[in-house]
Amino acid sequence: RNALALLGGDARRRPRFTDRPDDAAGFEAVREELADDHRRPRYHLSAPAGWLNDPNGILQYDGTYHVFYQYNPGGPFHGTIHWGHATSEDLVHWEDRPVALSPDPDGPDRDGVWSGCAVVGDDGTPTLVYTGGRGRDQLPCLATTDDPTLETWEKHGENPILSAPTEDIDLLETDDWRAEFRDHNVWREGGTWYHLVGAGVEETGGAALLYRGPNLREWEYVGPLLVGDWEGHGVVWECPELLDFGEKQVLHVSNYSHVEYFLGTANLDDPSFEIEHRERLDYGDYYAPQSTRTDDGRVLAWGWAPEARDAEAQWHAGWSGLLTVPRKLSVEGGELRQRPARELAELRRRRAAEGDISLAPGDSRTLDLSGNAYELAFDARTESGATLELGLFESPAGNERTVVRYDGDELVVDRSESALDGVPETSEQRMPVEGDILSLRAFVDGSVLELFANERRCLTSRVYPTRADAEGASLSARGGSVRIDGLEAWELGAAFEARERGE
Ligand code: FRU
Repeated sequence: RNALALLGGDARRRPRFTDRPDDAAGFEAVREELADDHRRPRYHLSAPAGWLNDPNGILQYDGTYHVFYQYNPGGPFHGTIHWGHATSEDLVHWEDRPVALSPDPDGPDRDGVWSGCAVVGDDGTPTLVYTGGRGRDQLPCLATTDDPTLETWEKHGENPILSAPTEDIDLLETDDWRAEFRDHNVWREGGTWYHLVGAGVEETGGAALLYRGPNLREWEYVGPLLVGDWEGHGVVWECPELLDFGEKQVLHVSNYSHVEYFLGTANLDDPSFEIEHRERLDYGDYYAPQSTRTDDGRVLAWGWAPEARDAEAQWHAGWSGLLTVPRKLSVEGGELRQRPARELAELRRRRAAEGDISLAPGDSRTLDLSGNAYELAFDARTESGATLELGLFESPAGNERTVVRYDGDELVVDRSESALDGVPETSEQRMPVEGDILSLRAFVDGSVLELFANERRCLTSRVYPTRADAEGASLSARGGSVRIDGLEAWELGAAFEARERGE
């Protein structure tokens, strides 16, 4: 098996991707080739190689979980975008499937098959609603299938299904686009289909536009569900998604900088969204999430964890982007909660640490972990003036490390010493923590760190230790004592078989 030939050269040096690895053997070969890269995720969902951005079309169909994603099989950059596809029976072990949608040189998606969603139509037909990019146009398109594996899709003969964005409002235009108008979130409620599109309103701000229709082909514009006409909202909202939690709804949008969510009440008849609370959905490297409701009624969301290293480093790596672990979203006591999906426990292998620890000021404890694919959980209490330092990705000499600090109020990810070569983004990431305890679950995987604080807030961070042996983890107390309760740590298995065999 010659993965290098598939990549068109030495993947480490300069992947050219002249041959697309778009069959199962090709995918596996490329995965194995990239498997020695200590920054490749092991249990996070990733593309076989090349570029990945938004999760799309997430669906549990006939029991099987399907995740599609924005994919450039041609290289680790945002070029001609296809829909990649992976499936899982248990949410933690994944298999690559053939590319689901490719741009059609003569079609309305000639320049890219951009973000959208998957729904099951009135007659039971699985349907993808996606953004077709052609020249200066971004317009909604459909693809359907009668293939139970959801591998082969037929594009609708009358794509795009809307010939122009609404003329009712003045949408933001740029040199590149006739209007910022993309990304589709579609659902059915009371016999009516609803459809949200991401857009920007000229001189106003990002917008989530609401459409309504009797089926998936015919849409009438109803009005904006919400327009971000206040400061700091972003000029365009991408990938809007409305989630119904019964007594409350959550609308989240990606505003070029981060993902903002609004908790409140949506009115679909006279479109409006009454905001009770707004906040970041994740305080770190996280964008364009999408959710699905599983057969057992949970809302699970995946987000894109973009690279925090430059284009050249991505080019040399041969891959870019990964999806965060599935997060269960719920509204409890009027608040949005986020927890890792319970199925992640299936990945647990060696139990590496457990117990309660009291750290006096200046004390440090090294955790008995090896490899950079593990999960860590504990409750921490700091006395006044004390800071807990959780050291991760630590090199044996201690000169390369990523530090998570908790001082009783806030959690800070300090990446200033994460990588000796100074290539990646090193800015600090911060997230508020309410209450007197930090109940932390941390997922470490190659070059990603996902933090869940108090089953409420999340922070995703990308870090790139230069050394493959920068895999130490430690707990220390500074400026006062720290109490750690219920510490548990597990090394975790792999999402894709190619990595599992290397164990
Ligand atoms: C968000 C986004 C979407 C678009 C897609 C293109 O990351 O820019 O708005 O549909 O990615 O890949």
